Amino acid sequence: MKGLLLAGGHGTRLRPLTFSGNKHMIPIANQPMLFYGLQHLRAAGVREAAVILGPIREGIEEQVGDGSRFGLRVTYVPQAEPKGLAHAVLCARDFLGDEPFLMYLGDNMLEHGAKPFADRFGVGDARGVVGVVPVKEPSQYGVAELDAHDTIVSVEEKPKSPRSNLAVVGVYLFDPAIHDVIAQLKPSQRGELEITDAIRLLQQETGQVRVIRLDGWWKDTGRPEDLLEANERVLASRSRSEFQVRGQIDPHASVSGLIELGEGSTIGPGTAVRGPVALGRDVHLEDGAFLGPYTSVGDHSVIRKAEVDRSILMEGVQIDARIRIVDSIIGRGAVLNARTHPPSGESFIIGDACRIIL
Ligand code: DAU
Repeated sequence: MKGLLLAGGHGTRLRPLTFSGNKHMIPIANQPMLFYGLQHLRAAGVREAAVILGPIREGIEEQVGDGSRFGLRVTYVPQAEPKGLAHAVLCARDFLGDEPFLMYLGDNMLEHGAKPFADRFGVGDARGVVGVVPVKEPSQYGVAELDAHDTIVSVEEKPKSPRSNLAVVGVYLFDPAIHDVIAQLKPSQRGELEITDAIRLLQQETGQVRVIRLDGWWKDTGRPEDLLEANERVLASRSRSEFQVRGQIDPHASVSGLIELGEGSTIGPGTAVRGPVALGRDVHLEDGAFLGPYTSVGDHSVIRKAEVDRSILMEGVQIDARIRIVDSIIGRGAVLNARTHPPSGESFIIGDACRIIL
């Protein structure tokens, strides 16, 4: 079984975070989102995977390399334009050959990863396996309508009037029959080759698309709020042994809950940390800094005086101000300092499409 990880697309809903980089490299609990997908593919039994890359591919090849750090052999397949999920499969046609494959959308985070799909496929009666989860706003997803035996009656992409509340999650397992089906597809109204159309056709032609109802959490990280929720979920569901303290905690710091502290990092005297939090390497908390639960801080960051709760701070962030930051995402190398001399007033250098809520 091969793996196909999708990391193309524009990531427009995550601007400004995606102006300067690929959305799949945004860190969740200090690890690029994409890495979770690669780890889940490996855990499901994949050894050889292709990563679909769109025009914004910064950092992916450098960091994922040949995939050996994930126990995978990784190759890269370009997709010049995001013409749809089924189009991405078409781009990878040569790589996929005549093997079944696990397809994983790089912006999806699943508590139990892709193994339940491989397990269901292993039963031996499926030409496709899809996962569903009940959601509050089904019209934002692919939606599956099932009969009493959980057989697919219909699958629609982002329907205005959904026939059920069951969203199709962004992990799929297909056998090679899917290629003939995709060859028949026409672009949808939004101009994409939809994987949901392929699933519907595959079910019509074979009657062998199996559905699993997933337990555990699932998050499509399309919007900034979703990133914060994914960060919270990952930190909340990590096991105790995954939180390692490699840096120094001063005896005069107040620390409780689970804490990940990278090499060379320090939690200084008079600071306080309430886990679960993840701090990368060479991170320094000083001068009354307070870190609340569900916060992650990237390598080489310094926080002084400020309180930070339920936020994602990327690499090299510097904060030195008496300010309480909540539910925030702060990009690489951002600086937030208090003014030390007149005139008073806030001063900003804010890039395109940023959001400031005061
Ligand atoms: O998250 C689950 C949903 O994912 C499903 O319920 C929908 O049926 C499915 O169409 C998809 O919907 P999205 O609107 O969330 O898809 P999005 O355009 O965000 O793309 C999903 C991932 O695939 C994302 O990581 C970018 C990548 N991608 C997307 C397109 C359109 C590509 O690599 N190439 C593409 O052409």
